[in-house]
Amino acid sequence: MIRIAPISEVEPQAVEHLLDRAFGTDRHERTAYRIRQGMPAIPRLSFAALENGALVGTIQCWPILFDGDDGQDVPMVMLGPVAVEPARQRDGIGRDLMLYALNAAVASGEAGALMLIGDPEYYGRFFGFTADRTAGWRAPGPVEQRRLLAMGDSVPDGAGMLAPRTVALA
Ligand SMILES: CC(C)(COP(=O)(O)OP(=O)(O)OC[C@H]1O[C@@H](n2cnc3c(N)ncnc32)[C@H](O)[C@@H]1OP(=O)(O)O)[C@@H](O)C(=O)NCCC(=O)NCCS
Repeated sequence: MIRIAPISEVEPQAVEHLLDRAFGTDRHERTAYRIRQGMPAIPRLSFAALENGALVGTIQCWPILFDGDDGQDVPMVMLGPVAVEPARQRDGIGRDLMLYALNAAVASGEAGALMLIGDPEYYGRFFGFTADRTAGWRAPGPVEQRRLLAMGDSVPDGAGMLAPRTVALA
């Protein structure tokens, strides 16, 4: 049976090893890592999936900022990485983790401007993320525009740069 717990229940090293297995050890070069560089994950929006006590999945969320070219800064939450142990993929664990984090974001009032970099075939189909508003967005690294996804009533739709939010959420 899968239990979803706060990520603080597991060793940080175990999370890092799972991420290496799911994404490869070169994952730190990814643009998503640059967008939230130097920021701690948001503890109340970061979870572990445990199966009989063993870590089989994780999701972490990060405080970022949309630095609008019009001078308007929009605080946003970046979801991911979502990672499931390769041997346990396609069994609903990724979906459970995403829904858990999304519900937590709603409960804490942080679901107004969510974004992630990922496959629209997964994040659109199951959760409703779209690239409809992200055409003008820039990131500190290469990103396929179709994979720059967002959801929420306060998602900015102008031009601007994604960056770490240096004043973390309380
Ligand atoms: C992507 C990932 C988180 C999905 O979690 P999961 O537990 O394996 O998947 P789920 O059981 O929640 O969902 C399975 C469904 O999603 C589909 N799916 C999974 N990954 C997909 C992708 N990248 N694109 C399109 N569909 C995908 C499956 O085909 C399956 O569809 P079906 O029910 O019609 O057969 C997981 O496979 C993983 O860790 N992958 C490697 C790391 C990664 O790419 N993370 C996401 C980027 S942030």
